[in-house]
Parts: sequence; structure tokens; C-alpha cells
Amino acid sequence: MGNSESIATRVTEGKVRFTVNGKVCEVGSETPPETKLVSYLRETLLLTGTKLSCGEGGCGTCIVTVSYLNPGTGMPVTRPVNSCLTRVLSCDGWEISTIEHLGSKRKGLHPLQSTLAAFNGTQCGFCSPGMIMTVNSVLRENESPSMETLEKSIDGNICRCTGYRPILDAFKSFAGTPGTSCSGDPDTKDIVPDIEDIGWVCPQKNNFNPSPDEVYIETSSGRWYSPNNLENLLSVLKLVPEEYYTLVAGSTGPGVYKDDNFLVQHFIDVSKIVELRSHAESPLELGGGITIHDSISILRKVSRLYPEKYGYTEQVAEHLEKVANLAVRSVGTLAGNLELKRRHRSFPSDVFTLLETVGASIEVVSPTSKVSCSPSEYLEIQQSKQVIVKIRFPALSEKCHFQSYKISSRKVNAHAYISAGFLAKTEPGTFMLLDKPNLVFTGVSGDLIRAVETEKLLENQDLSDQAVLDSALKSLGSEITPDPDPRSSDPAFRVGLVQALFYRFVLNLLGDKVPSNLRSGVQPLQRGVSHGVQEFETDPSLYPINKPVQKLEAESQCSGEAEYTGDKPVFHNQLYAAFVLSTQANCDLESVDPSAALDLPGVVGFMSQEDISGDNNFSQTKPWKEEIFATKKVLYAGQAVGLLVAENEEVARKASKLVKISYTNIQEPVLTLQEAIKHPEKIEPTGDPIVEGDVEKELKGSVKTVSGEFEIGSQYPFHLETQICISVPKEDGFDIYCSTQDIDKVQTTVASVLGVQLKDINISVKRLGGAFGAKISRPNQIAAACALASKKFNRPVKLQLDLKTNMEMIGKRLPFLARYKVGVDDSGTLTGVQINIFCDSGSSHNEFTADAAVFFAKLCYQAKAWNLVPQSALTNTPSNTYIRAPGTTQGHAIMENIMEHLAAETGTDPLELRLHNIPEDPSYDSLREIIKKLRESSEYDLKKQQVLDFNQNNRWKKKGLSLVPINYRHDYYGSRFNVLISVYRRDGSVAVSHGGIEMGQGINTKVCQVVAKELGISMEMVSIKPTDSFTNPNASLTGGSMGSECNCSAALIACQKLKEQMKPIAEKLKNPTWLELVTECYNQGVDLSARHMGHSSKDGLIGYNIWAAVLTQVEVDVLTGEMNIESCNLIEDTGTSISPDVDVGQVEGGLIMGLGLWTSEQIRYDKKTGRLLDNSSWEYKVPSAMDIPEKMRIEFYNSGHNPGGVLGSKATGEPSVLAGVSVLTALRQAIRSARQDSNLPTWFQFNGPATVEAIKLGCSVDVKNMKLQ
Ligand SMILES: Cc1cc2nc3c(=O)[nH]c(=O)nc-3n(C[C@H](O)[C@H](O)[C@H](O)COP(=O)(O)OP(=O)(O)OC[C@H]3O[C@@H](n4cnc5c(N)ncnc54)[C@H](O)[C@@H]3O)c2cc1C
Ligand code: FES
Ligand code: FES
Repeated sequence: MGNSESIATRVTEGKVRFTVNGKVCEVGSETPPETKLVSYLRETLLLTGTKLSCGEGGCGTCIVTVSYLNPGTGMPVTRPVNSCLTRVLSCDGWEISTIEHLGSKRKGLHPLQSTLAAFNGTQCGFCSPGMIMTVNSVLRENESPSMETLEKSIDGNICRCTGYRPILDAFKSFAGTPGTSCSGDPDTKDIVPDIEDIGWVCPQKNNFNPSPDEVYIETSSGRWYSPNNLENLLSVLKLVPEEYYTLVAGSTGPGVYKDDNFLVQHFIDVSKIVELRSHAESPLELGGGITIHDSISILRKVSRLYPEKYGYTEQVAEHLEKVANLAVRSVGTLAGNLELKRRHRSFPSDVFTLLETVGASIEVVSPTSKVSCSPSEYLEIQQSKQVIVKIRFPALSEKCHFQSYKISSRKVNAHAYISAGFLAKTEPGTFMLLDKPNLVFTGVSGDLIRAVETEKLLENQDLSDQAVLDSALKSLGSEITPDPDPRSSDPAFRVGLVQALFYRFVLNLLGDKVPSNLRSGVQPLQRGVSHGVQEFETDPSLYPINKPVQKLEAESQCSGEAEYTGDKPVFHNQLYAAFVLSTQANCDLESVDPSAALDLPGVVGFMSQEDISGDNNFSQTKPWKEEIFATKKVLYAGQAVGLLVAENEEVARKASKLVKISYTNIQEPVLTLQEAIKHPEKIEPTGDPIVEGDVEKELKGSVKTVSGEFEIGSQYPFHLETQICISVPKEDGFDIYCSTQDIDKVQTTVASVLGVQLKDINISVKRLGGAFGAKISRPNQIAAACALASKKFNRPVKLQLDLKTNMEMIGKRLPFLARYKVGVDDSGTLTGVQINIFCDSGSSHNEFTADAAVFFAKLCYQAKAWNLVPQSALTNTPSNTYIRAPGTTQGHAIMENIMEHLAAETGTDPLELRLHNIPEDPSYDSLREIIKKLRESSEYDLKKQQVLDFNQNNRWKKKGLSLVPINYRHDYYGSRFNVLISVYRRDGSVAVSHGGIEMGQGINTKVCQVVAKELGISMEMVSIKPTDSFTNPNASLTGGSMGSECNCSAALIACQKLKEQMKPIAEKLKNPTWLELVTECYNQGVDLSARHMGHSSKDGLIGYNIWAAVLTQVEVDVLTGEMNIESCNLIEDTGTSISPDVDVGQVEGGLIMGLGLWTSEQIRYDKKTGRLLDNSSWEYKVPSAMDIPEKMRIEFYNSGHNPGGVLGSKATGEPSVLAGVSVLTALRQAIRSARQDSNLPTWFQFNGPATVEAIKLGCSVDVKNMKLQ
């Protein structure tokens, strides 16, 4: 611990005090500095409403509201804070509110809670507390925010279930007048109560101050210092050893660079130091410890007050608003950001870009020096112990032109591909540069900061001269040499982006001097506040089925009272476990050495395959063995090699990284389908090919044939609740609490590995925090490992995967490759369709889905001959698994891509070609009618013309429009679910336990509606209990949109059985009330409980088609590859929906998940090691609330009572995922127009996902196209 003992003599050992929900809390030496606020809230205070998911500041589930006195201004502020990043020792003087403080079902809900529930803004509910606390923080600071402010406020909150629309609607209803909660949107007045009406009182503003003294805390794993001024900070810095200390400002840095503090033992909290948090307006100086959020407000104010010298700071503020997300900006500081850039040169720091461009200077002090330097000079400082005290902004005259741009993979909460800043000085009225311009870029490479050669070349040049522009672009092209880092984007893309942004800067500078079609290159894409419409009809005579009702659990989810597996109170003597993963694919294990990990205090033991006496296999019900812990062969990086068990979770995770694994026989991993199909031994046929007619003959006779390839990427499900299991040894075996969609398989696997009978395994599931198919088979491994540990140590064990482990270890959606040849005759009719469809099943063929793909490829169209061949390929990646609409999504998309290809090559309108090839068979009437309806209601033909006109008039912005039909064949596959209904004699209330799993899809709500309807009672009389292996044995998995329907069906039959039992009594009584009937049945000894083992075939459930069509319009920024989904209209056939609001949620959520698959979600592996590169929320981007269609219209089409479904309904969980491909096809249309302008072939292979990078590369803009006239 170095010399720091002497500090203990200077200050008395302290405590940190803060309040949580009004209660004073005190922490001190018992609290290690690594302890995060979220752990303290959840584990010490048992406030489990605050959730933990990514632990990286990337998802917002952990957000709480914090009020404190800003040391710089002395004013109270309220901010949303990521409790997963905040160290609890840095909360001195804070007033923290968690979701529990706002309200509860018992005490009454806060308007934010009840409104989110009323708008059906929850599905799995895992994101809900974080969403509410974010907006709560905003409303505490700003009593009458605009809709736009509210929409933007959840830029850091991920919801994977709802598609955001209902969440945004709920929160936007708080826009407007202070004091009322609903004035923004007149349509919502009935739903949202006024704050006064429910007697809710705003919690008191901060009256709790931090300790004015210097705080020093000695703990078992490190020392905490909280100096109260700069002088004391420098004294502390003198004492701590160089390599083992860190300054703690907002503590968001570890959200990006997680291992930065692995060895740190001295933590110096700088948040109380007034010198670092003060600012001056003129001359403009910001303390290094000022948060990005506060900097934005100051910069805006100064720009308004002193436009003649600081006018440019408005634009700096605008750019800073694109940094991270609201919660990170709320605590993350300017200095912390710059220091991250100094330590990690490749960090694409927006703060650095801005400060370097405008020519800011930084004042840096250390215990021995004080310097003033430029941001780029700061990066060169080699010594540690430097403190950024303040940043000075220069006054820039009106001759200076400043612009900056950030291009990233998602609209918000994403680091830049490239962050660029430009500053040029010209004589007023001319474009002649007075000096060298500043051209600053981050994201290109660690070394390149400024394009110095190009800066020199431009000195005193005329920017309106095409020749000057051409040579500058050329110079940038040769000067910019991007890092070949595999985590970064394509080098050609980055070079192109730098050139395009410079061109944009010049166009901006020239203003009206450039023709109007080129001016489309000036502005980034604009996006308004989003708006959604949902249309469906209901029949009140059927209520409570077909009634739009609030989800049963919505209020508990919004109040944080809904319990997830990880929220269970800690069991007596509980241990924690963490997987040890391989870091190399395709090799053998040479040795595994856990000794360093075992030495860590708190570690209890290490387990490996040697600890498994039974079958080391968690896929016993599948043909391919999948080992729980690797024995010898390591198939993929991320494969579990062992399990670390410790007294607490942080120690278990830390220790798991200390296990040394050596590998031998390392061979190059096969990571893509293109590679895999070169190895015949890796390919297996999966299911029967579909062969109809003679394809070869038809192709030969075709007027036109096209052939090509189409690839579709993988998708990580991003369920916010990561895989988790708790195993508790019990007198009668083991109680297993596992987040699984398939209790039966977990029970089977655990019994088998423990060598016990199934009766000894008790499994109970209340709800899942999202699943999307990834919790069908994969939890078997988690449960097996967890149960093995609890057996070995004979103690309860909790095993929850952190996000990185979850992403690296668990398989994902299967990537696909299609190779096709297709023909049409002279009327445009499909002749022969030949497609080889390969799916990448990962390291086992267990969950291939190419069979579903071939089936779905031919569902919308007729052809004279088909030959569709499904094959599964093995790669050195985790065994891939079922993700929402598996295989069906890809099969449908493959055929839609082919239709686009045919339309392009034959010069036909894609919609006309599609309509022409939809079978004439009357069974397709619904599809034709839906398309007709959609075409009319969304004014397709008018829009098409408008898009054409727009594209003609704009060189650098293009629009695309695409209408795609969907035919989703739904089947039940002999599913079995057990439903048990118990009626209580004293009040007639009813408890139901069904065999399905509630994971956000609303199964409990639908079952409740059906039971209430069938028994003739109100929904309030019915309660749905957790699913468990005792009451609901032998259940099928919940997935494929079958669970809700099958359990509703079984519940219906169970009710009918119950009524049958009660019938003799009912007949005796004259019109009894429900309670009278129940009471008399009890008196007469009638069984008040009934069950039904549902079996889809025996119960008469018959497969059916679900029809839909979607129309999507996009706008593309040709220069950068960014895009905006302007509108998306989807009409889907739902039959007689059992629960329309729940079904709207399913449809919208599925659509947005599909949209993510086709746009921002990208999975890449390291070519050498096979390690997953996109293994965090920093790299992997699911859609945010700002990525959904700006206008979204969902309409239900009722094709009439569906005889095959339950009570006339149709499934809704998956078909809309297929609609996501319309974004890809619309983007293709837009890109075609850009390519046309550049005289490029308009057909090109355009795979999914269409990332910003892929779109820009697709547009193929060359510098020779960058004209000024
Ligand atoms: C989810 C997420 C998204 C992000 N997105 C972006 C983005 O889009 N663009 C972007 O530019 N950044 C982004 N960031 C980075 C973010 O801006 C930084 O994490 C933040 O600014 C760091 O500030 P901090 O106060 O939290 O630093 P801390 O985490 O407290 O400290 C970080 C480092 O800075 C040092 N330090 C702290 N204060 C000082 C000081 N006064 N003088 C010298 N060194 C100091 C510490 O010793 C430590 O090494 C993102 C971060 C997260 C978590
Ligand atoms: S858990 Fe804190 S942001 Fe994800
Ligand atoms: S409801 Fe938002 S993540 Fe599930």
C-alpha cells in the first residue's frame, strides 16, 4: 500500500454518508472501493427494484435518481445515475431515490409508474424501473419538459421487448404544464391521473450535504481518499504508488475499459474538489471535473451571452449531447474523458475532437509541475499523477467557421466510428483560408489526430475552388491510414467517411453558392419526435377476452415489486459462482491452473469436468453432445472450462479471470459459413429438401434468370436479465430457480448430472426478464453447473452470467447463406427457384433452422418448380440457438431478396412483381386484401412518386420505399401444457398455475382473461401462480408463439372440467352467484380444483396461416451511410385477438427486434482466436428509442374467427419479426438511386445487417463524385 499510511495520520478515518429513499446510510471500512451502488442497494438494503444487466452504463436498467449539491455552484441538482458504475463510497452527501421511493402497489403508484403500466409500456418489465427513474430525474429538474426532451431522455435505456413506442407515449404524456402529469397529448387524458388527484408529493429537494472534511477509508481491498481541495489532492497523489491508483470522478470510464482498475488499490475521489468543478463564463473556462451534462448547459448559455466570441460553443454543446447517454453524461466528466483518450489512444473521444479542433488549452497539475497544453500535447504526457484542473476555450471571431460531426452505428448511445472537427478562418464574404485549417479526427487510428498534410496543403487556399477540394480529398485519402483493428469498422469505410465529412464541411461553408441538389449534403439527417398509431376493433360482447386490458403484472413491474430470479433474498450460507471460459477456439486443453484464483481471499473452490461423475452433457435430449465443462477439445472461444465458486459475486468473477489455461494443437478456427462450406465434413443436410417440378428445365426455359448470394448475420438476443440459476440443496433434493423457457429440460439435465431422479429436482419459475428463445436450451448448462456446485459444497449457489460471459459463452441467432438461381418467364411469372440454404449452427448441429427457412421461403409465392435445399454447417463458435422467429425470418427474407433481384434485373416494380407471383388460390385472398388495404391506407402510389421526385432533386440524401408481404405458417407440434385451477371456497377467488413461462409476452394476462371469461367472473378474482415442476410436470417449452395459445386452450378446458364438476350443484341452485355456487359445491364435497393436460393435437388445435404486409420508408445519408426509418406501416392478421393491447406489444416488439437484426446488430469474431469481438453494450447495438420508425402504424386485420386457434385468435409473437426485412429492401431502393447517380450497376449484393458502414459502402461514393457545382 506504499507510503499512504501517512495520510491516516493527517485525517481521521472517515465514513461516507448518504440517504437512500430518505433513510440515512453510512458506509466505511467494511465496504471495498469496488462495491457499486447497485450491489449496495440490492444486497445490503434489499432494494431489488433497481436492476442490474450490462454493468457498463449501456442499458439503463440500474438507473436511480440522485440529488446533491453541485460543489462548483453550490446549487442542488438532480440527475439520473447508473448505479452499476457508481462506487458506493463516492455517494457522500447524495440523496438517492430508487423505484421503491416513488410508489408501490400497496402505498399507491407514482404517476410515472401507473402511466407506464396503463400504456402497456412493460413486457418482461426488466427495463421498467430504470426507464421510470430516468424520466423521474428529468422531471425533478425540469417541471415542464417538451416531448422532444422526454423522448431524448431515454437515450441510454434499452428495452428489448416493447419496441419503445408505448414507453415513449407514456412518458411524452408528461410533457407540458408543470404540476399535471398529462398535458402533452390530449389523447391520453383519460389514462393518466393528475399528480394532485392521487395525492403524490414530490420528494424534498436535497438537504443532505457531503462531509466538508477530507475522507479517508481503509478497507480490506483498497484505500479510499476523498480530498476536499486541490492542495489535499496533490498531497494524496504524492503518497500513492504510481501504478496502483486511480482518480474517481464520475466512474464511468470502467464502463468502457473494464480492466483499467484491475490492480488498483488507491481510489481518490475528486468529485468534491471545488477547483475542478468551477467555471468562468468570460473568458470561458470549465473545470476538468465538470460533467458533460453541465458543460452542455454552460456552453449553451455562454454561446447566447457572448455570440461574438463564443457563438461556436452552441455547436460544441450539440455535439456533446451525442456523447454516451443522459445518465453517463450526468456524471462523466470532461477530464475523465480526456484521460481515457490519453490511456487508450484508439478511444474515439468526442470531447478530445472538439477541444482539439477549437484550440482549447488544458491546465494540468501534478505534485511537482503545472503546465498548460493543447489536448494533443496532453496525450503525449508520459508521467502519471496528472490532474486536469481546467479547460480554456478560445474566443473565435466571426471569421472562424467551426463544424463537427459524429458518425456512429446507432443514433444515440454509441461511440463514434469517426468523430471529426473542422475549423477554418476566412475573410468575410470569401472562401479564401486565412491560415491553415484544423482538421481533427478520432476513430481513424490511435496515432492520427490531425490531418497535418492536408492542413498544410489548404493553407491560404480558396475552398470554393473544385481543384483545391479535389487535392484536399486526395490528400486526406493518402494521409488517413486507419488502424486495421478488427473491432473497428472497415478501413475503406473510415477513409471514405473522413473525406465525406470534409466535403460536408466545405458544402456547409459555401452555403447558397452550391446548387440545391448538392446542398442535401450539408445537413445530417433530421428526425422529429416519433409518433405511433395502433388500430384494431374489439367486440365487447366477448369481454373479458378480446378486451384491451392492462397487463396483469404491469403495476408490479413499474413499481419494482415484480420478482425475478436474481431478486430472491440471499439464502443462508449462499455462495456465488462464475464461469471460466476458454479464450481460444479449435484447440486442445493442455492444462488448467486455478492456483492464483484459489489464493484470492473469499474463493471457495474451482470446479471442472473432473467434478462431474454423471454425464458431462447438457443436451441429453439432442443428438449432439454439448459438454458442461470442456474435457479436452475446445471447440470455440467462450467454451466453459470450469466454474469458480466464492463467498461473493465480485470475488467469483474476479477470480475467474485469474485461472490460467494453456492450449495445444491450435488450429485456425472456422468462423463463417463461407469458410465452413469449403469443408464437406462440416456440412449436414437438415430435413428434406423441397422439390416440386423440374427446376433445371424451368430455368433453361426462362426468359430471364438471376443468380447470386445473400448472407444474413447473427443476432444476440439481449434479454436484459442474463442467464441465471440458483440451486439450493434441500431435504427432498434440490430447489432450482432458473430463468428458463423449458422447465422439463432443466429438470432432466440437472437430475442426470447430479445422478438423482427427476422427483428430487424442484423447479419454480415466476417470470423471466426477457428470453426470445435463448432460454430454451441454453439454461440447461447454467443450471447443471450451478447444481453441481451446490451439491459439491452443500450450500446454496447463485450463478448469474455477466453480460460479457453471456455474450461470449452462449450461442445466438444462426447466420445464413443462400445461393440461388431463379428464373421468370416473359410475363414475370416465377419459373424455377433453386436455392441452397445453409445455416451456421455453431459448434453442434443441435439447433439448426435451415429446414424452417426452406419452408418459409416458398410461402408467399408460386413458381412452376422449386428446389430448396436446407443444410447445416459447423463452425468454431458457440452452438447457436433459437432466437425469435428462427429460420422463418431468414427463409422469408431470402425469397424477398430474390424478388428484389428479379425486379431490378427485369426493370419491374418490386411490388408489381410480388403481386403477380402471389398464388391465385383463394386461400391467399386475405394476403391480397391486406396488401390492397395497406397500399391504399398508406398512399403507397403517392409516396412512390414523392420518393422518385425527392431522389431526383437530392444528390446526397436518398429515400427508399418497400412493401413486403408475409405469410407466417403457425403450427403447434403436439405441444403439451398442464394447467391447474384451484377455487377457494370462502371468497370464490381462483388461482391458476399453467405450464407456460411468462417472459413478457403476456401469457398470464391472456390465461387470466380466458379463465375469467369461461368461469363468468372478473379478472380481479383470478391470480396466476408461478410455473413449477410439481404442479405443471412434463411441460413443453414456451416458444414459437405456441405457449400463450396452448395454455389458454388448456386453461379453457380445465375451466370446462371444473364447470362440469360443479354442474349438478349449479343446476340445483337457481341462478346462483359464483360465490354461492362455490360455497355449495364445497358443502357438497365437490372438488373445487381441476386440471387439464393440454395436448395441442388432441385438443383440436390446428395450424394456420398468419397474413401480414408491411410498408417501410427510409431516408439515407449517402455521404455517411446513416439512415432514418421515416415510417413503417404494418397490417397483421390476428384473428380475434384474445388481448389486443398485449398483441400490439408483441407485434411492435417483434418488428423492432427484426429491424435490429437487419440494421445495427452485428456479430464479429476475431479471426485468429475465434473470440467474440462484439461482446459488450459498447460494441453491440440493439435499436434504441431513437432508432424506431419515426412514424409507426400497426393495424390488426381480423380475417374472422380462426377455427384452428384458441377462441378464434392467432399468434402474434413472431410474424412481425419477419417484417423487419422491409427496412433492408427499402434501404436497397435508396442506395440504388445513389448508385444510379454515380453510374454504378444498380444491383449489388446487400447483406444483413445493413449497418451504417454497409450502407455507405453500398452507396460507393467516390471522391470524384464530390462536386461543388
Ligand atoms: C456507455 C458509455 C458510452 C460512452 N459513449 C461515449 C461517446 O459516445 N463519446 C465519448 O467521447 N465518450 C463516451 N464515453 C466515455 C465517457 O465520456 C467517459 O467515460 C467519461 O467522460 C469519463 O469521465 P468520468 O468522470 O466518469 O471518469 P472516471 O471514470 O472517473 O475516470 C476515468 C479516468 O480519468 C481519470 N481522471 C478523472 N478525473 C481526472 C482529472 N481531473 N484529471 C486527470 N485524470 C482524471 C481517472 O484517473 C481515470 O483514469 C462513454 C462511456 C460510457 C460508459
Ligand atoms: S446495468 Fe447499469 S447501465 Fe446496464
Ligand atoms: S419490457 Fe423492456 S426489456 Fe422487457
